This record gives sequence, C-alpha cells and structure tokens, in this order.
Amino acid sequence: MLIFKDKTTLAAYLKSLRRQGKKIGFVPTMGALHEGHLSLMKEASTHADVVICSIFVNPTQFNDRKDFEKYPIRREDDIKKLLGSPTELLFLPSVEEIYGPNTVNLETYDFGKIEKMLEGVHRPGHFQGVGQVMRRLLELIQPEVLLMGQKDYQQVLIINTLINILKINAQLIICPIVREPDGLAMSSRNLRLTEEARRKASGIYQTLVYIKDNYRRSPFDKLVKKGINFLEKQGFQVEYLTIANSRDLQVVNKPVSSPMICLAAAWLDGIRLIDNVFL
Ligand code: PAJ
Repeated sequence: MLIFKDKTTLAAYLKSLRRQGKKIGFVPTMGALHEGHLSLMKEASTHADVVICSIFVNPTQFNDRKDFEKYPIRREDDIKKLLGSPTELLFLPSVEEIYGPNTVNLETYDFGKIEKMLEGVHRPGHFQGVGQVMRRLLELIQPEVLLMGQKDYQQVLIINTLINILKINAQLIICPIVREPDGLAMSSRNLRLTEEARRKASGIYQTLVYIKDNYRRSPFDKLVKKGINFLEKQGFQVEYLTIANSRDLQVVNKPVSSPMICLAAAWLDGIRLIDNVFL
C-alpha cells in the first residue's frame, strides 16, 4: 500500500493510473477503522481497479469542539487493517494540506431542506463541513466510484446533492450497515463507550427492529413514543427517533409507497450514537 500525505504527489500518481485506464474507487473516512469501513473497501474492489482510502479527521464538520478533540486516532492500527484489505492507496493529509492556512470563511452549499432536519438540527453546520471536505477530496481524487455507508444515511443524501451541485462524475454506492453481534452499528465512537454503556448501546438497534416489526400493526406516533420511552428507561437521551420517507427524510405518519426508513440519534453516557433501518 502506498501512503500519500500531499495532494500534488497523489494527483500525479492518480493521473498515471488513469492513463493506464484504471478505474478508481474511493472510500473517505476519519480513521479508527472498523469492519464497517473495511466492508466499504471490499465493496470498492468489486467496482474499481484501484481502491483509495482517505483518513482525515475533518475539523470543519465538528460542531462540538470536545467531540473533535476526543475523536479516536489510531493510525498504526488503521494502517495494519488497511494492509489486510484491498486498499492500495492511502491518503493521509494534514488540515493545512486540505484547507490551506486556515478554515475560516470557507464556501457554503445549498443542500436544501435535507440539511436542516434530523442531524442538521442537532449538529448545526455539520453538513457544510462534510460538503467542504468532500468537495476537496472528490476534486483531487476524481474517483469513478465513491463508496459510503448507510450508517450515515443523511450524509449519503447530502453527498448525492453535492455531486449534483458540483457536476462530479462519480457513481455513489451505498453500503449496508455492519453491526456488532448484539446489533450495535459499528462506529469509531463506540471505542469511547464504558463497559456498562457498551452493554446497553444495542438498545437503539433493538428499538429500530421493534419498529420495523410492528409498523404495519400500530400507528407510527404510538410506536415512536414507545421506542423513545424504552430508550429513556435504558438511560439514553434521545435526540430523534423518526420514521421518514427515505427519499427526502420527510416524516411520515402512515405507510407510504416509497421506501421508508426509521432513524435514531441518542446519547448514552456522553457518547452520541446514530443508527437506522429501512422498514
Ligand atoms: P467516518 O465516520 O469515518 O465514516 C466513513 C464511512 O464509513 C462513511 O461512509 C460511513 O457511513 C461508513 N461507515 C461507518 N460506520 C459504518 C458501519 N457500521 N457499516 C458500514 N459503513 C459504515 O463519515 C465520515 O467518516 C465523514 O463524515 C467523511 C465522509 C469521511 C467526511 O469527513
């Protein structure tokens, strides 16, 4: 695996690959890699000739400074994991390499309504930061295929919009959520859960499955209330638990013909967890 830290060398290398007619598959990450990330690399290798992964903890997408400062950094472990994956190239830039001397007064995007709901309500500015870093990465790497996880479903919709706004020629592939044996969605933030919180953390997935199993039988508002009560009893502070149209994330109160998704965000012992399931 080749590791690049600067844009110029990476751009030159990618140009030579493209000249050889190689198709590039890109998996952007913030590191502390787990099986969820690695599933994206595996999927990438089935669509592309060369898989490139980036590890960059993007400061502009953290609305909470403490969350940024505490974000787990596991570079050696990440590299070991990548060596056992189909990843051939790793981009490990510094903040300066991506943004130049500072991150103030960056461009903004009009992502429409999607930006202002769910995650957007609780993490103001988060998706602007995701847009800012993804534009820079996509313009540099120019992948044929971009792989992202359903785990961050709203982020997928935002990136889809970004690709349209910037007229970027990449095929976006959404990969399924990889879970721990008890159902907890894998996440770099799980590393920060205490043993007790870790035991309770799968409550989010249990709630989503309960809603999936019962939405045909019970009014949506009742189900959601029941779900929130269950989570609160377990010690979660729920930010949202909602059933929405998967196309635009508009809340739905009864079954609709287009695919529906149930999404949740909740705090447990100071850690923010998110998850979702299609109904
Ligand atoms: P990060 O949280 O590191 O996630 C990188 C990618 O891995 C995202 O597409 C995410 O949805 C996916 N992923 C995370 N957990 C997963 C799981 N359990 N199963 C499957 N896929 C999973 O998302 C980001 O980084 C950043 O916002 C980024 C897009 C890199 C921009 O900074």
